[in-house]
Amino acid sequence: MIENWHNRIVKEQAMVAGPRRFRPLRMAVSRIANDVWDLRNGFDFGKIKHSPYATLGCNATMSTDVLVLPAIFDDAMETKRMVDVGCGRGRVIRWLLNHGYKGKIVGVEIDPEIGRIAQELFSEEDNVDILVGDILQMLRPEWDRYYCYNPFSVHMLRRFLNAIVPLRMNNGACVAYYNPRILTLDNGDQLFPHDYIPKPWTVKYKLTKAIPVVNVIAYFVLKPTP
Ligand SMILES: C[S@@+](CC[C@H](N)C(=O)[O-])C[C@H]1O[C@@H](n2cnc3c(N)ncnc32)[C@H](O)[C@@H]1O
Repeated sequence: MIENWHNRIVKEQAMVAGPRRFRPLRMAVSRIANDVWDLRNGFDFGKIKHSPYATLGCNATMSTDVLVLPAIFDDAMETKRMVDVGCGRGRVIRWLLNHGYKGKIVGVEIDPEIGRIAQELFSEEDNVDILVGDILQMLRPEWDRYYCYNPFSVHMLRRFLNAIVPLRMNNGACVAYYNPRILTLDNGDQLFPHDYIPKPWTVKYKLTKAIPVVNVIAYFVLKPTP
């Protein structure tokens, strides 16, 4: 199941990709699409706020481009649970709800001001929990699918992946990481030197490169070695 989700996303993602020279046009289209989407949903999800924890490696609050969300989540609609790592104001959560996602959605947000906004926005939704705090301190064994839109530094990403592994010892987990500008794109191996990979697990990762709007998505499929 995890494998299917992973493969499907890669395939869909390739369809969103396009030549670099269209970047300005795509960015303009994205901006309009996001503004219109926010307007229709009655909230400015796109507003950027710098993190009060930037020195710890936490990135600013900004929202995933609505144009790439179908590619990222299409095959995740049937899943039981989705954790938005650093949910920000919750555009992804709103999008999932709008598209009929019936599973549990957990949004974790470290910035208390932003977390409170999200809590308020989704207070009426039975299947949404917004937790305010550091995801690294809040991971739970039942969480198996994570979505990250560039929430933190490579250092924190490593700690995050390392923390998931022992929790999911027999079952594996899938992490989709959108637009990881912070990753070393030209040499994916640098992100995971082989002595880093926690045993007895393997970490498979795939980087889809250089796409105008979409940029890059990294998929980390964590699973126990047979
Ligand atoms: C780029 S925003 C993504 C927002 C949302 N996931 C989306 O895609 O629309 C990244 C968010 O991650 C949050 N964040 C960073 N480090 C975190 C951590 N350790 N635990 C929880 N949230 C974190 C930041 O405060 C920020 O709001």
